[in-house]
Amino acid sequence: MPASIIDGKQIASTLRNEIKHSVQARIDQHMRPPGLAVICIGDDPASKVYVGHKRKACKEAGIKSISYDLPAETTQHELIKIIDELNNNPEVDGILVQLPLPQHIDSSLVIEQINPDKDVDGFHPENVGKLALRIPGLRPCTPYGVIHLLNCIGETYKGKHAVIVGASNIVGRPMMLELLIAGATVTVCHRFTADTGTFVKQADIVIAAAGKPGLVKGDWIKEGATVIDVGINRLENGKLTGDVEYDKAKERAKWITPVPGGVGPMTVAMLLKNTLTACQKHQF
Ligand code: GUN
Repeated sequence: MPASIIDGKQIASTLRNEIKHSVQARIDQHMRPPGLAVICIGDDPASKVYVGHKRKACKEAGIKSISYDLPAETTQHELIKIIDELNNNPEVDGILVQLPLPQHIDSSLVIEQINPDKDVDGFHPENVGKLALRIPGLRPCTPYGVIHLLNCIGETYKGKHAVIVGASNIVGRPMMLELLIAGATVTVCHRFTADTGTFVKQADIVIAAAGKPGLVKGDWIKEGATVIDVGINRLENGKLTGDVEYDKAKERAKWITPVPGGVGPMTVAMLLKNTLTACQKHQF
């Protein structure tokens, strides 16, 4: 039987509605709405699209979005000055700097400048460290969204082997920490792994996050596995595709996410959730 499709768009929409109601409840109690500052530097077309989605989602949820669209020549010093101002602004609960940054800016240094209590991307070393120590603070949005999807389909983790393909700071590494907390046995494959297929073939849960179309072959998927495709790749014909050979994988998996409409919408929903959490916990 072909896999059931995990409808990330629907699951994200439900979550965004819940967040909208929580924001409205604050307003009804005469509290201010949560505020999210979104900083985009340069003209990367993909970044512009993602940032557009994030700002639109904020508006729909009643979260105040403060936009900074800065030229590619913005200096590191100027960016850090803006972050310092936002750190000290009591109406700003979350600060998001869209990555990648232009080459002349040191991303690690910029991320470390963000107050960890306002780090709604969950990329600050303090938040990554907390996740590693099983005391999560603000959690990286995409892995957090994947866990939400897995919980929605009733996935169990204990005794399961989860294989992640891709070891990026944004997805692969925090995904490993999330799945460890959930109780799975975790393998992370990356560009230096000799034979990724050997590992994926053993996986009960596959997380593909390498950013390479078709890297995960359909016939690697174990019968009955859950397949989560985090890849979003634009082909020459303009179509979006994931990292997994979807049509073949669908014939073997029990559950699978589509691209688009799987993980992508969850990243935005979890960003809103983190912003609300930051507001409720730290800012009032
Ligand atoms: N670039 C790609 N994904 C992300 C993300 O989740 N957050 C930020 N800030 N930049 C990104």
